[in-house]
Amino acid sequence: MKVLIFPDAKDAIAAAARLVLDQVRLKPDAVLGLATGGTMEAVYDKVADGVRETAVSFAGVSSFNLDEYLGLPPAHPASYHTYMRQRLFSRVGIDLAKTHLPKGDCEDAEAECRRYEAAIAASGGIDLQLLGIGRNGHIGFNEPTSSLSSRTRVKTLTADTREANAQFFDRLEDVPHYALTMGIGTILDARHCVLLAIGASKAEPVAKAIEGPLAATCPASALQLHRHATMLLDREAAASLQLVDYYQRVHPDGAPAQIEPR
Ligand code: F6R
Repeated sequence: MKVLIFPDAKDAIAAAARLVLDQVRLKPDAVLGLATGGTMEAVYDKVADGVRETAVSFAGVSSFNLDEYLGLPPAHPASYHTYMRQRLFSRVGIDLAKTHLPKGDCEDAEAECRRYEAAIAASGGIDLQLLGIGRNGHIGFNEPTSSLSSRTRVKTLTADTREANAQFFDRLEDVPHYALTMGIGTILDARHCVLLAIGASKAEPVAKAIEGPLAATCPASALQLHRHATMLLDREAAASLQLVDYYQRVHPDGAPAQIEPR
């Protein structure tokens, strides 16, 4: 696992955007795994800037989002379909037919989850999976005690997650109780996992994910099993790490290491 600690949030965000743009430059038909939430907003701004300012093209890119609220139609203002259209898809020239999110308004949720897994497999698998982290250590909507080998399925959201996401709805009561989410096993199948965490509210889950025991109570700790996981942190999100001096010595201020072990 690579732990990169940046002097400030904007540097960590720029690094996440750079990894996405480099992936597309390297492989113009890359399959991206995408996340939503507050942390990703600035990343998508930077990716859109990169597409505008450089020769990188998203025309051949496919994407799979981590999750969607069960019951929300794509046109709902707080759906992740809407988030992705507004924040990324409409700004980078991606072919909408190649973008995928679980359908929140599906009739048969189990069939939809199977369909989603099959579509990811048919694409050849995800090259780079972007991840945020919840205050409770979730990745996607894999809440604490999710099976570490889970596949795409319906999860019940915790009270904490519903509260954290209430900012995107008019009222807390409007936040759905269930979501369709890629499983932890699905996420671990990606060839590169990139987790971005910003701010003091993420310090505790980040420390558990990186240095704590591998445990379903902190779903992000499953990334310890991954062969190519990169953690991008600002100083506040890194504040509870015990080996912070070590990470800083290997990658001073998030810079590439002289020798690049994973
Ligand atoms: C959303 C998702 C979630 C968020 C996490 C952090 O697609 O995958 O796991 O990444 O809840 O959200 P923010 O960035 O709003 O703190």
